[in-house]
Amino acid sequence: MTELQKKAAHLREQINYHNYRYYVLDDPEISDAEYDRLMRELIELEKAHPELATPDSPTQRIGGARLEGFEPVTHTLPLLSLDNSLNEAEIIEFDDRIRRNLGMSGDMEYVCEPKLDGLAVELVYENGLLTVASTRGDGYVGENVTQNIRTIKGVPLKLLTTFISPPDRLEVRGEVILGLREFQELNRRRQEEGEPTFANPRNAAAGSLRQLDPAITAARPLDIFCYGVGQHIGLELKSQWQTLQTLKTLGLKVNPLARLVRGIKEVKDYHADLLQQRESLPYEIDGIVVKVNDFSLQERLGVKTKSPRWAIAYKFPAQQETTQILDIIVQVGRTGVLTPVAVMQPVQVGGVEVSRATLHNQDEIDRKDVRIGDWVVVQRAGDVIPEVVKVITTRRTGREKPYTLPKKCPVCGSETVRLEGEVAQRCINLACPAQVKERIYHFASKGAMDIDGLGDKLVDQLVEKGLVKDVADLYYLTRDELVSLERMAEKSADNLLAAIEASKKRPLNRLLFALGIRFVGEHVARVLVNSFKNLDNLQKATKEDLMQVYEIGPQVAESVVDFFANEENICILERLKKAGVEMKPLEDEEDAEKILAGKIIVFTGALQTFTRKEARELVELLGGRASSSVSKNTDFVVVGENPGSKATRAQELGVEIMSENDFRKLVGLDS
Ligand code: IVH
Repeated sequence: MTELQKKAAHLREQINYHNYRYYVLDDPEISDAEYDRLMRELIELEKAHPELATPDSPTQRIGGARLEGFEPVTHTLPLLSLDNSLNEAEIIEFDDRIRRNLGMSGDMEYVCEPKLDGLAVELVYENGLLTVASTRGDGYVGENVTQNIRTIKGVPLKLLTTFISPPDRLEVRGEVILGLREFQELNRRRQEEGEPTFANPRNAAAGSLRQLDPAITAARPLDIFCYGVGQHIGLELKSQWQTLQTLKTLGLKVNPLARLVRGIKEVKDYHADLLQQRESLPYEIDGIVVKVNDFSLQERLGVKTKSPRWAIAYKFPAQQETTQILDIIVQVGRTGVLTPVAVMQPVQVGGVEVSRATLHNQDEIDRKDVRIGDWVVVQRAGDVIPEVVKVITTRRTGREKPYTLPKKCPVCGSETVRLEGEVAQRCINLACPAQVKERIYHFASKGAMDIDGLGDKLVDQLVEKGLVKDVADLYYLTRDELVSLERMAEKSADNLLAAIEASKKRPLNRLLFALGIRFVGEHVARVLVNSFKNLDNLQKATKEDLMQVYEIGPQVAESVVDFFANEENICILERLKKAGVEMKPLEDEEDAEKILAGKIIVFTGALQTFTRKEARELVELLGGRASSSVSKNTDFVVVGENPGSKATRAQELGVEIMSENDFRKLVGLDS
């Protein structure tokens, strides 16, 4: 290997490892900024020397060409489906049947897993490399979605073979899902763009995975959990539990809620426990899956045509109910989109009272033929806004009233437009109070400028009284103005002024997010600040400059450029600055004063006075970062007993090496 090849290989290994820490273990070792730096270094290197790029390079996740259609893939072993049990009696019957078939009287060992509501895929790894990924299809033949699967960051392009040597062939089965937050964000964006929204996360995941253009899939943060294997050559597996552990060891993402249990009582407890947790999970599950643990017992039980006898789904009660639509009202969003909302007779759905449900847009109303007075099925999932699934037409009396969105904005009275190719109808008056209010709610919200005490009701009043027309006006509010508001005591006015004052110190990434630039969510805002450092640079950046940044695509780039090209926006920024909004990048001052501020430290060998965890926590406490691998960015390496290759590597790179004692002195533990 040449030096360059070695360098590229090393970078790839580092990035793949950090990907694994971040996406699979959910326990990153390095900051986003440092990750970006590694990624950029590799991109540059491969750009200068294209021959260095290997198929498992993390730069190669995106970049497949647009396809004409998907090729069929015949599965080596069919991907079966599952029988359902809907209540306790049915799950007890399942357990009885199994023990009867096996002639066993004691408690069975089962693996219980969440039943994820996504779509099943199979990933084929040959000698450790991901070669083909396909959808389940009809169970026998699926579609080749390799390019799209490669864009999922939790899918290793190369198996982690630190602990197990790569099997000759390993077929991994799992479920591709879209998280609830991601689903909401995707729908919000689609609504803004006037595109049809997805009915639920599963449809969104399926639609994203079956995109012919992998760039579109890449822009949708799909996730995966692996739960089984198909053919596996060069890897011995004896049970489901061992399989899950092995998949994890190979760097594949396995759901952390899976449990090994004994007897049907523990299965029932698991079901009850997960039902409790259902609402707080960041993704949708619709039940649990119960699998006989021992593979030799699975084999004895065998399979039916479509499903195995050794596994069953134990579903949760439906999150759907029926109720009546009393009225349909319109909400105007931050970008002027008009959303019809059904006002319903309140009803309990999965333990929560629901009285409003979104109808999405006119096309959806027409498609479902929803009318005022209709009896409908409503559905809710997680904290997603409840929606009307369908009308129960058999309950119609003939007195129901069809509905069409108003031609004029119900808030400001301006004409609304529906752009060609869009499903959304919008109010295009930027000064529309509904839009202004939404922009200000967002600006003051938690992840944004976090102005404590500036709730929706107060914003409504401020806008209605004409005291606030844009976000900059917030910083020019006077005590007298506030006190003049309804239900505003002097004390609350002072508190609010203090909260507004405190928000001036929010870092630049939060401000960027708060401004509500299209497609600039919390993460993108952070990426932008990491790359451009200050507002001036960002303002000057061209579309090309922006697209140089890993993770910034044409859509975001265009939107940022448009934002800064708008004079009104520039004026708002000027007034924010004048009011004393600091707009400083992330690093907070406190950190800068700490002993290890900004330092990257690697520990190697056995430490005598700390555990690794303690050492790492200490470093973080003092403003530094502990990393697991030595690079030229490492500030120093602390060596314990029997240091390994990391010490050698530090020497090669000329990175400072210190003993544990020196380290203790440096951080002030010893003198
Ligand atoms: S095992 C023979 N495990 O449910 C075993 N499936 O109704 C079949 N699913 O097609 C698959 N979570 O898409 C299994 N933990 C889990 C699952 C799971 C969701 C889906 C999968 C399958 C469908 C069957």
